[in-house]
Amino acid sequence: MLSDKRIIVGVSGGIAAYKTAALVSALKQAGADIQVLMTENAEKFVGRITFEALSGHRVITDTFDSEEYIIPHISVAKPADLFMVAPATANIIAKLACGIADDALTSTFIASDCIKIVVPAMNVKMYENPATQENIEKLRDHGVIVLEPDSGHLAEGIFAKGKMPEPSVLYRFIEYYISRGRDLEGKKVVITAGPTRERLDPVRFITNHSTGKMGYALAKAAAARGADTVLISGPVNELSDNVNNAVLTGEKSAEGVITPIGARKIEIESAEDMLEAVKKEYKDADCVIMAAAVADFRPASVAEDKIKKEDSGEEKTILELERTEDILSWLGKHKKKGQKLVGFSMETKDLLENSEKKLKKKNADMIIANNLKTPGAGFGTDTNVVTVIKADEITELPIMKKEEIADEILDEVFGI
Ligand code: CTP
Repeated sequence: MLSDKRIIVGVSGGIAAYKTAALVSALKQAGADIQVLMTENAEKFVGRITFEALSGHRVITDTFDSEEYIIPHISVAKPADLFMVAPATANIIAKLACGIADDALTSTFIASDCIKIVVPAMNVKMYENPATQENIEKLRDHGVIVLEPDSGHLAEGIFAKGKMPEPSVLYRFIEYYISRGRDLEGKKVVITAGPTRERLDPVRFITNHSTGKMGYALAKAAAARGADTVLISGPVNELSDNVNNAVLTGEKSAEGVITPIGARKIEIESAEDMLEAVKKEYKDADCVIMAAAVADFRPASVAEDKIKKEDSGEEKTILELERTEDILSWLGKHKKKGQKLVGFSMETKDLLENSEKKLKKKNADMIIANNLKTPGAGFGTDTNVVTVIKADEITELPIMKKEEIADEILDEVFGI
């Protein structure tokens, strides 16, 4: 997503500057071209050599950089896709809000017309000071995206708001704003993801192997492309904000998912909860994608207390199950005009035949079918091998990353 993108990272003088080094490293690993601009004060916290080694470019601090024989703020600003200032001190925020251009960072910021993100990080009193708040509002009025600081342990030894978000979070914001354009703006996309859990007693449940990766990849793509994205998710393994760079850049597989920036997430547990959430959200949706592995059956009754083995048979016991409502079929019956319904079909045999049946039976517009026995397809993997089935067309896609498949599905749904 970030390869061939040109990103300017402005570093001002705050203790969080060391975290920006990890951000620059992740961006570089993802293939972006990074230019770091530092204020003089930033160099008191992290040496320029660190950023030069990580970005592969000379760091610029001085507006009149004689060594480069260029006018940095003009030549650097022109071709950039995104400019992030992290950390942004109260002082730099004040300068940027007022249009003061007295060093390379501030001059280049003012000379740039790309997407601009400012990441405040400072003492809580400085952050809450009315002057800082006014300056932040001013920047927002100018179209600059100003992130909220995190709450946490500040350098002063207190727990308060003012911390710079983790590098992985900043990376995800950059990815979100820089991705392939906002071609789904004005559309509402509802996506279900993950497994459901069907309770048996207070300690046990029935579930399946779904990790949520495909649904989360769809939500990430939809949100990044500007859609109003609702992610209805069953219980999944959510990765912390400290996820390492290799996972972030997709180089290494992760044992979990990350909630996409820009998606509204609704957490549910059972198939019944999922149906309720879908009923609340589907009416004004342009598209509903059922990527969740919804349980087809649930225990016919839920025991109030833990079921004891003495109360069951000696060698065997019988568990009575009842059908859950098929959410995709329910949506098929209540489909709104112009609304697109997408289902998934996981099979181990007769893929096309079974999936075409599901398309008709559930009144869906598209079924994304995969064979669990195909290498690189199915649960937990970062890739999938799918066939897109529509009433009049069947398209086999090659093995692709789930994130790429997500974009293909959205292109197909919205005729892009
Ligand atoms: N689905 C659903 N509600 C259910 C079960 C499935 O909405 N109670 C949806 C899934 O989210 C998926 C599609 O139906 O988009 C197909 O799911 P799949 O498990 O492949 O098929 P089933 O219809 O459940 O049939 P079977 O398990 O017999 O293959």
